[in-house]
Amino acid sequence: MKIDMSVSIGSLNLDFPVIPASGVWPYEKDFWKSDRLCGIGAVCTKAISLHAKRGNSGIRLWETPAGVLNSIGLQNVGAAAFVEKYLPMAENCPVPVIANVVMESTKDTSETLRILQDTGVPAGAELNISCPNVDGEGMAWGTDPLSAAKAVRAARKVWRGELWVKMTPQTACPEDVARAIEEEGADAIVAANTWLGMGMDMQRGKPAFDRVVAGLSGPAVFPLALRLVWQVCGAVSIPVIGCGGVATASDCAAMMLAGASAVEVGTAFFRNLDTGKEISEGLEKYVRQYRCTKLAGMRGLARK
Ligand SMILES: Cc1cc2nc3c(=O)[nH]c(=O)nc-3n(C[C@H](O)[C@H](O)[C@H](O)COP(=O)(O)O)c2cc1C
Repeated sequence: MKIDMSVSIGSLNLDFPVIPASGVWPYEKDFWKSDRLCGIGAVCTKAISLHAKRGNSGIRLWETPAGVLNSIGLQNVGAAAFVEKYLPMAENCPVPVIANVVMESTKDTSETLRILQDTGVPAGAELNISCPNVDGEGMAWGTDPLSAAKAVRAARKVWRGELWVKMTPQTACPEDVARAIEEEGADAIVAANTWLGMGMDMQRGKPAFDRVVAGLSGPAVFPLALRLVWQVCGAVSIPVIGCGGVATASDCAAMMLAGASAVEVGTAFFRNLDTGKEISEGLEKYVRQYRCTKLAGMRGLARK
C-alpha cells in the first residue's frame, strides 16, 4: 500500500517533507519543473533583499571534511529584478515556492515583502534573521528574543501568507528566541541557518575568507541541528522545519521523531540533485518501522 508522505506546515500541504533550503536550488527553468522535483514538497528561493547585493569579496566556498563553509554574502539581484527575471519560473512551479527574504531594516524588509506579495506568487515567505555572512544586521536580528520579535512583528504586519522564520544557531537562548517568534505570529520556524566557523588557508597562512568567519553546513552540523530542533520543538507549538546537515532518509526521520514537521536540505543537493527523491523514497521504511500509517504520524514520536 502506498504510504501518505504529505506533511502540513500551517495552511500549506506539502506532498513530501523535503524542501531545498535557500541558496541551493538552481535558478534554471528546467529545475522548476515536475521531473526535477520528485520527492520535493516545496522550494525556497535564494535570498531576496530590497536592493541588489554583490555578495562578499574573496573565496566564498571552502570544503571541510564533513561539510562546507560559505561566505556568499546574500548575493542577489534585488526584489524588483527578482520579480522580473525569476518569478515567471517560480510561477509555474508545481510545488509551493517560499521566498527567502533578508531581514535588513524593518523599512526595507517590509518593502521587499510588499513587492513579493503584490505578485501573488510565493506561497510563503521565509524571513532570514540569521545570516552569518553579512556585517551589521543579518544574524544579529536572530540572536536575542527582543530583536527577533521586532523583526517578526514588522514582517507580520505586511505579509499575509505563510510566514516562516529562519533562526540562527548562534544564540544563547534558542527556546526564548523561538517563543518570541511564535508570539509575534509566525506560522513556522526553520531551525536553523549555518553555524559560525572559519577556515585557514595553509598556503597563505591567512584566514581563507575575507570576512574571516563563514557559515558551516553539511553533515558536520547534523547532530547540532538535531539538538536545536529538539529544544525548539519543546518550546513552541507552531511547526518546526529541521535544517542542518540533513542528507539521508534516516536524518530526515530523526528530525521528525524529534518533532520537526519537515526538513530543509542544502549542502546535500550540491553532491546529488536527486537527494529529495532519495530521502522521500527512503522514508517509507521508517514509517513502517515505527508502525505509523502515514509519515506525519512520526512527528515527535521520540518525545512520547
Ligand atoms: C552556498 C550556500 C548559500 C546559502 N544561501 C542562503 C541564503 O541566501 N539564505 C539563507 O537563509 N540561507 C542560505 N544558506 C543556508 C542554507 O539555506 C541552510 O540553512 C544551511 O546550508 C544548512 O543546511 P545544510 O546543512 O543542509 O546545507 C546557504 C547555504 C549555502 C551552503
